[in-house]
Amino acid sequence: MRRYLATLVPASIVTVGVALAHPVMAKRMVSDFDVAQPAFQLLGRPVGGTKPATATAAYLTSSRIAAVGEGALVIDADSGKLIRTDKAGKNIAQLDIGQNAGLLAFDPVASTAYVADRLNNRVAVIRIGDKLEITGTLQTPVEPYGVALAPDRKTLLVTTIADRTLVAYDLASSKEKWRTALAREPRGLAISPDGSRALVAYLATGTVDEIDLVETHAAEHVALSTAGSPRRCRRCGNDGDTFARGSFALTFMGDHQAVVPFQRETPVQQLAGSENTGSYGGGFEPPLTHQLAFLSMTGERTNQITATISQHQPRALAWDGAHDALYVAGMGTDTILQIKNASQVSITQGLSTTVKSGKDACGPDGLAVTSSGNVLVWCSFTRNVERVDFVDAKGELAAATKMNAGPALVASTMGDKQHLGMVLFHSAEPQISQRGALACASCHPDGRADGLSWRIDKHELQTPLLTGRVVGTHPYKWDGGDPTLRDSLTSTMKRLGGIGLDKPQTDALAAYVEGLPAVRTPTRDGQMVARGKKLFDSDAGCRSCHDGANYTDQERHKFSGTLSESDTPSLIGIAASAPYFHDGSAATLEALLRDRGAVHGMAETSNLNDQQIADLTAFLETL
Ligand code: HEC
Ligand code: HEC
Repeated sequence: MRRYLATLVPASIVTVGVALAHPVMAKRMVSDFDVAQPAFQLLGRPVGGTKPATATAAYLTSSRIAAVGEGALVIDADSGKLIRTDKAGKNIAQLDIGQNAGLLAFDPVASTAYVADRLNNRVAVIRIGDKLEITGTLQTPVEPYGVALAPDRKTLLVTTIADRTLVAYDLASSKEKWRTALAREPRGLAISPDGSRALVAYLATGTVDEIDLVETHAAEHVALSTAGSPRRCRRCGNDGDTFARGSFALTFMGDHQAVVPFQRETPVQQLAGSENTGSYGGGFEPPLTHQLAFLSMTGERTNQITATISQHQPRALAWDGAHDALYVAGMGTDTILQIKNASQVSITQGLSTTVKSGKDACGPDGLAVTSSGNVLVWCSFTRNVERVDFVDAKGELAAATKMNAGPALVASTMGDKQHLGMVLFHSAEPQISQRGALACASCHPDGRADGLSWRIDKHELQTPLLTGRVVGTHPYKWDGGDPTLRDSLTSTMKRLGGIGLDKPQTDALAAYVEGLPAVRTPTRDGQMVARGKKLFDSDAGCRSCHDGANYTDQERHKFSGTLSESDTPSLIGIAASAPYFHDGSAATLEALLRDRGAVHGMAETSNLNDQQIADLTAFLETL
């Protein structure tokens, strides 16, 4: 069997050592079949220039961490604390912002930071000195997340997740200048050094938005290319559609180039010449790889090439313009990849380093480059800052890295069990999935959903939202086949081709999933919501199944559709979980009520007029 595999797919399946071994995975098996994605492989001709692009100020890009002098400024999402550290990574000042905080931008000239307080719909303006002091507040639409400062340092841009907007604020007056609509699940935000455009990255759309900051303020969608690797195994076949997902961050390199990490997902794979096979657990080729898109915005249209990288769940990146070095951190692998000559045609792979210190997983969720060119890493699991020296004493890119791990800066708000569950949720290990190709967080980024339907046991099943939706909603899965959450997780790992976790680990994973907070709901017209609620409660007959605190009777129903029976799903957070139904056949809530996708028999809605559909949709979106 081994030889068979080795000769059949020499390129895509490569033996690796224990480099990615995970501490909590005591039983980790190192097999000959572990997949090593190439550390960095370009899938086309570089789009960069012959000279390095002009350096980009850090405050143009929203991040969890900024370099402040020799130390760092970091916003910890878990505790909601903003912390300033010294050179050794020690906590020298801290300030409460609010739990589940978003990202920050730091203006070194004015010694001022702007931090998104996600729960309280505001951006806190903070003077950064020996003490951290709130000097002002900008009210935002619901759920601010990304924050970036324009090059003139007078305009602040903020993305909001639930209300799906990009808002520009005039900092002198704290007044809103303009706003523009975004797609769902916006995350990273960056402004070009010439101030002409901004880019927004998304979790679930497969696009980035390019926003004209000078004239129209309108957003244009740029599809991320999912071109396959030329090295992929041809005999395996793979005619399924691929989708770009999970872009948490992006950055400009000069005025006309940008880099966007994303994951490339193939939810339905085919063997050449045969019928569809499930790709859920992997098959020969991993159904999910990690990529970097290099966008070039010089001409009429945006050109791009992609590169495959081995960083699993690349959630953070930073570009050192002075050395033209790009750094990308992989949350699932605890590694940082350096890419040299990143903005040039001579782009090439540099060093790669592990950021795990001791036995605990780091969970890198933020990168910043210091003035000397070294890299500060925010380890969100261990809650400490690590400084990785990529530059030598002469100020040049070094031949090897040196790491200094600072102490934990703040206590975790989670118990040990939940914390372990969080680490497991993000780990790409053979316990979870075949060859460790997939982590829970791959398909459920931020506990949400990739918006794709995966081929599992002859059915295409959509990834459900988990946040705020798993307590009191048993049974689990679209067909209600798993009576308890633990059963659901065990069967998931089995279906993913994972070896499985032991009981305490599975319990820890369940505890983490149960603790995920519900998604925030968007602002909707109160009268429409009230009318929609009335419809839902009475005439439309939705309550007969979608009842109780979670809007589910926890029963199975027989509808026409591909499943013989469907478990009534909870409607909590439904605004954030498009598309709808087990097969994703209704693209929007409106489509679900009007055209009903592929599932028929749920409720009679054809007698509803346009206003009633709009009202019902508005109500559903506030659940
Ligand atoms: C390849 C993408 C993928 C990965 C990886 C994945 N899931 Fe899922 N998840 C899905 C899909 C698709 C379903 C629906 C399957 C079904 O109904 O049979 C699902 C269903 C679930 C459910 C049931 C939710 C409900 O309300 O019924 C839970 C809980 C869950 N996943 C948690 C996890 C955890 C924890 C992990 C990691 C061990 C994980 N998932 C890994 C795609 C994925
Ligand atoms: C007979 C029970 C029943 C009734 C009545 C019912 N639903 Fe459902 N609902 C279900 C089931 C079961 C599903 C899952 C169907 C599937 O995808 O296979 C579902 C799915 C949904 C979904 C998609 C959930 C998701 O996560 O994709 C929405 C939204 C929804 N229902 C809203 C409504 C509304 C609004 C009404 C009233 C007009 C209604 N339902 C009436 C049982 C019901």
